[in-house]
Amino acid sequence: MSNEISRLRCDRAPAWDALRTHYSVAGSGFDLREAFRRGATRVEAFSQDAPHVFADLSKNLIDAQAESLLLELARECDLTGHRDAMFAGEAVNNTEKRAVKHWLLRTPKGGSADPDLGQVHATLDAMLAYAEAVRANAAITDIVNIGIGGSDLGPQMAVAALDGFVLPGKRFHFVSNVDGHELAALLAKVKPESTLFLIASKTFTTIETMTNARSAKAWFEAQGGRDIGAHFAALTTNVAAAREFGIATTFGFWDWVGGRYSMWSAIGLPIAIAIGEKGFRDLLSGAHDMDRHFATAPLESNLPVRLGLLDIWYRNFHGFTSRSIAPYHSALRRLPAFLQQLEMESNGKRVDAQGRPLAFATSPVLWGEPGTNGQHAYFQMLHQGTDVVPVEFIAVKRASHDLPGHHEQLLANVLAQAQALMQGQGDAGGHRNFPGNRPSTFFLLEALTPTSLGAMLALNEHRVFVSGSLWGINSFDQWGVELGKVLAKDIAPRLASGDVEGLDASTAGLLRRIIRAGPFPG
Ligand code: F6P
Repeated sequence: MSNEISRLRCDRAPAWDALRTHYSVAGSGFDLREAFRRGATRVEAFSQDAPHVFADLSKNLIDAQAESLLLELARECDLTGHRDAMFAGEAVNNTEKRAVKHWLLRTPKGGSADPDLGQVHATLDAMLAYAEAVRANAAITDIVNIGIGGSDLGPQMAVAALDGFVLPGKRFHFVSNVDGHELAALLAKVKPESTLFLIASKTFTTIETMTNARSAKAWFEAQGGRDIGAHFAALTTNVAAAREFGIATTFGFWDWVGGRYSMWSAIGLPIAIAIGEKGFRDLLSGAHDMDRHFATAPLESNLPVRLGLLDIWYRNFHGFTSRSIAPYHSALRRLPAFLQQLEMESNGKRVDAQGRPLAFATSPVLWGEPGTNGQHAYFQMLHQGTDVVPVEFIAVKRASHDLPGHHEQLLANVLAQAQALMQGQGDAGGHRNFPGNRPSTFFLLEALTPTSLGAMLALNEHRVFVSGSLWGINSFDQWGVELGKVLAKDIAPRLASGDVEGLDASTAGLLRRIIRAGPFPG
């Protein structure tokens, strides 16, 4: 049984104090160069193979003693009990009283006794058959996904990442922002008879998505588009609302799939259209392999566990406030944004699962850009700035193009950056001094394929689970997004009426200024 009440929070576990002591004795002054000189086995000890992903953790500010205390912390906090509760379908999302079963979406037929597996596969089969039909339909050239947050970032990131696998002749577009510039620019380029709109929304109530969906439908009809059934499909848990909206083609999913964990569900339809049934099944199987690794590997050789514990070490003992994601593969350009939602919406919490304020820090800020671009932008700060920012490099051994020389340069650069951050240069002060001792993790994939991408993403989902679990928070709700939505609903009609009654002076002043600029279209 998952026991939310009795699960020990990290700061109440004996290992927490031991970690504090260890940090002050050996953690704060830890020197990577020294650690490599002393420990001949450091690379092996801090390397971890996991399905489809290799990780070199050795350039992190951590020693064997810290890692063993972190593992002790995980045991004291019953991480495995919590993990097993998730995989047993218990309501680990306690504030919404929901199970957390995105892992079931990638479980093969017969791979679990969970009663929902049958409907998962029935929907998957139907969605993949539909995806194949769209692929075979040469009349459809443009697929427009309308969705936001988890109903946008995962599919958008994966379609870009798997560019080499995407069916030629189809173009994929992602419209998320309520800012009409996005949709208007797209509608100016596409034609109703050759466009398929996918309205992706778990709730089918999100204001941005519903506004864009309404405008897309109105445009379609105004352009003489006929047969909404053939040109609109909805991906949602709220099939009734989609039907009411006028969309008959729907693919459902379930409340036990969190928005940011939903690309494996019907929300993944754009990915399935892009890379086909086989590609999508490979994506699921890569993620499933990582699920099994997380569920069964001993804690000390369990990659999501080792990463999640490192995250705690950095956030709560070193006090690092951010983590930079540096994929050295331009197709992974949306990965930082995807991981940002995954981590910050999951673990950006200031109270524990019981609503009690926390006296320690939780989610870091995640950010980043593909390399080598970042090197010519913000790496200056990573090398010589006053803050230490752990960097996560993601490199891919084999390129999927055959331009000579490029991939060697790319790989040389990623290796050099990790090396430079660690080694530094010169020990005097001054402008040319690189302090070094700056931490990084190095992920290596054989190739960027649906399978390896699936594994990499599931790895990050589970790693977020690990830190969230030890922090004692609910990583699966997102109450923090509600207030802004409510206030926007109050402000929207004021833009037309000019009513500022009850608003704070700053908001009222801004509103008056905006109104002075003139009337709004529509
Ligand atoms: O902004 C909060 C949020 O609920 C995210 O968690 C979610 O991914 C996004 O909005 C979109 O929600 P929906 O899929 O219901 O439109």
